Amino acid sequence: MERELALEFVRITEAAALASGRLMGRGDKEGADQAAVDAMRTVFDTVHIDGTVVIGEGEMDEAPMLYIGEKVGAGTEPKVDVAVDPVEGTNLVAKGLPNALAVMAIAPSGCLLHAPDMYMDKIAVGPQAKGCINLDASITDNLHAVAAALDKDVQDVTAIILDRPRHAAIIKEIRAAGARVKLITDGDVSAAIATAIPNTGVDILFGIGGAPEGVLAAAALKCLGGDMQARLTPDGAEELARIHQMGQADADKLLFLDDLVIGDDIFFAATGITDGDMLRGVRYLGKTAETHSLVMRGITGTIRNVYATHILSRKPHFVARGTDCPPSTK
Ligand code: FBP
Repeated sequence: MERELALEFVRITEAAALASGRLMGRGDKEGADQAAVDAMRTVFDTVHIDGTVVIGEGEMDEAPMLYIGEKVGAGTEPKVDVAVDPVEGTNLVAKGLPNALAVMAIAPSGCLLHAPDMYMDKIAVGPQAKGCINLDASITDNLHAVAAALDKDVQDVTAIILDRPRHAAIIKEIRAAGARVKLITDGDVSAAIATAIPNTGVDILFGIGGAPEGVLAAAALKCLGGDMQARLTPDGAEELARIHQMGQADADKLLFLDDLVIGDDIFFAATGITDGDMLRGVRYLGKTAETHSLVMRGITGTIRNVYATHILSRKPHFVARGTDCPPSTK
């Protein structure tokens, strides 16, 4: 994939963030998601890829747009797999809480795990602790391994985990090991990325979250040189069948970073919707709006922080000047 695509992809997440950010704190998570989906879908049509959504808003009969299998892009080469989460943390946007993102990842066709919409057990770390984690080892052993890799005491290691009853035993074990814990209400993609970004104060992610989010996090960690392991956790026969349907014979397989995302030829883009540890949320300034995005390329490991100013239209959500969208009416 050509390097120029990086800027094209960030336009897509910017559009989603600008559209859904308008609905911050309004208690309407479906509305925020829909606004982001519509904006993302529109901008996709202007990007020169022959894309197929492999992680999206759901199956064709569940989602009118960005459904799994949907073709996106202007239809020209390269042929790519597309993973999108127009709003990662719908509750966060609805409540105006930190760390909601618009995210996407792109890889050559066949290179992203076609993860079904179910839960996945995950462990993730940044580059310094790469190769030190093991999902099948105890929480305590993983904390000690990461502490050694980071040259810290275990009590200075910070674990991040979704605050869910299903994680009670893990949280108890982290505390017993003496490590610090950051409990989050939502958004384990940004939590996984935070382990690989200096100065976020987060060292390791544990716990069960969405499988689609797991693949998006893996794409980001590939670009950042971090590490991740995961295992799908199907709930019942139907979900188990779904795993087999997508070509994975062993549903219980321990998935390494290279199983989640094959190769390095990937792009990952994220734009902040609400303020967060890594990205600033959208600022609406009257006639303009500002966004802050990260766009990363796996092949080179380049990480770009993109600060953009957009001209706002009086339409319900943002349109960018110079695209196929209608002109500003300001
Ligand atoms: P949504 O944006 O779809 O609401 O997902 C938010 C999220 O917190 C993810 O980051 C996480 O993987 C998943 O939900 C966890 O699921 P649950 O809320 O069922 O524990």
